[in-house]
Amino acid sequence: MRSAIEKLFSAQLSCITDASLREMVVDVWETGALKGGWAPEELETIPFTLLTETHGVNLIQHTIAVTLGAVGLARAIEGTCTPPFTVNMDWLVAGGLLHDVGKLLEIEKHQGGYRKSRSGKCARHPISGAILAAGAGLPEEIVNIIGCHAKEGDGRPQRIETVLVHQADFATFNPMVMHNAGLLIE
Ligand SMILES: [Fe+2]
Repeated sequence: MRSAIEKLFSAQLSCITDASLREMVVDVWETGALKGGWAPEELETIPFTLLTETHGVNLIQHTIAVTLGAVGLARAIEGTCTPPFTVNMDWLVAGGLLHDVGKLLEIEKHQGGYRKSRSGKCARHPISGAILAAGAGLPEEIVNIIGCHAKEGDGRPQRIETVLVHQADFATFNPMVMHNAGLLIE
């Protein structure tokens, strides 16, 4: 499992300069995948959401897209102006890779498809992901990214990395919802 995860996210993991943080990111994915009962070869088959038709976009692709998007936003901001805050790029990449790790617990296989698990009914993925990350010893700031990247974070104090991951997540999710509802002008 561990080597499969390292291979799937190799390009993004290599951007994390803190070796122990890199290991913890893999630890959390490994724990989530094992707890969720997923086999290594199944990781690229998990839909990235159950809330709308995903057109084959899987959780790994979504995780990478959100991470790259958040990094792109950070570079755009820091490359054009001098904001009164700094983005911790290690935390941003780690948080991007972990923002949806709770979906490994929230989603389960059912009759050839997927459905929300009992665990997912008890705690949505931002909560279960935050619990997994905190349990692995990740910094509280990364717990904030995971726990507050979706509606759970609305109106709550957030790190800049949380805001960037949220916006990148929205940018990959909402057009799919709009497309499926006939609201995306094409
Ligand atoms: Fe997401």
